[in-house]
Amino acid sequence: MTGGTLSRRDMLRGSAASGAGLLWPGVAHSEGGAAGLGDIAAKAGILFGSTMDKANEADPAYAKLFDRHTKLIVTENATKFSFLQPHQGVYDFSVVDGVLDYAKAHGKKAHAAALIWNDDAPNWLKGRPGREIERIFDAHIERVVSRYAGRFISWEAVNEPFFPVQGKPGGYRDGPWFAAMGPSYIPRALRRVASIDKSARLVVNEAFCESNHEWGRANRPLFKGLADRLLDDGVPLHAVGFQSHLISSWSYDDHAFQAYVAEFGARGLDVYLSELDVNDEVLPEDNAVRDKMVARRYQDYLTAVLAVPAVKRVVTWGLADRYSWWRYMTWEKSTNAARLARPLPFDDDMKRKPAYDAMARAFEARRA
Ligand code: XIL
Repeated sequence: MTGGTLSRRDMLRGSAASGAGLLWPGVAHSEGGAAGLGDIAAKAGILFGSTMDKANEADPAYAKLFDRHTKLIVTENATKFSFLQPHQGVYDFSVVDGVLDYAKAHGKKAHAAALIWNDDAPNWLKGRPGREIERIFDAHIERVVSRYAGRFISWEAVNEPFFPVQGKPGGYRDGPWFAAMGPSYIPRALRRVASIDKSARLVVNEAFCESNHEWGRANRPLFKGLADRLLDDGVPLHAVGFQSHLISSWSYDDHAFQAYVAEFGARGLDVYLSELDVNDEVLPEDNAVRDKMVARRYQDYLTAVLAVPAVKRVVTWGLADRYSWWRYMTWEKSTNAARLARPLPFDDDMKRKPAYDAMARAFEARRA
């Protein structure tokens, strides 16, 4: 993600580390009486939410942020294959169940992220013949989607279909599903989910497109081509997701991206900004200065993209810096352990940051 310094494997290792070691201290901070981002967004026709990774009562202050600010809860990791089926035939539904219970008890909608993702497949799949991989793929979708049918309003059936630097034909992202089935794993996943959960909206999600970085420029036409083919072939697809991890060292042309996003709307698809945050790794040390620059990135990006009527959801990848994935993705290689990532709208004490105001302003601007 950070221009190649961090491999996808590193990211997945990060997930294991986070699962085992993430602390959820019970500090009871309050973020005061700020208007809920979810309410502000709703007035602009946007469903706003964020990711939850475990039953949130472990940190009551963080849970309060979700209560007040979200309308949609997204599973950060729990619906990924390697989390659901860490060993063959051994399923762990506990975290997903907990997140759905939280959502239900608090009147929130829920969305399942990354059901099929070539970058998240457990080691036990390695070396199996293609036929067996296909069988495992089908059975996993069957088991998971039938368990939760009707409880998620939408499934991100496929995450990150493309990653051309890997050199695979068509620019597709490599991994066990692609190796066994080629690109056909994508319509196969969508059709299978649709046949089990008839009411959920189905999403394909992609990385990097927001940026003018070479990875973004390469992914854009590939991803649009895929969406067009799926629709032309009558494959059930209702929305596309753009991750929107905005990396500060990359360049952006938000208006060019706005025009690109509008093309999906023109084909009748909804558009979700699905993993929004701002990676501040290269921004100045000073927190106040950094927070302002992060806020500016949120505001410029959202103001441009929310002008497209097809954009229906905004999801931040966490709400408070303390629990951002960038914290554990960057600290290991950091030369300055005191410099912690500040990518989200709330700080470590669950207090609003300038990014909160920037988001609120962007939602309000869409309403106007
Ligand atoms: C990340 C999680 O936030 C981490 O906890 C985990 O270690 C790795 O995955 N793009 C995606 C998400 O589609 O699934 C990733 O989530 C972040 C990048």
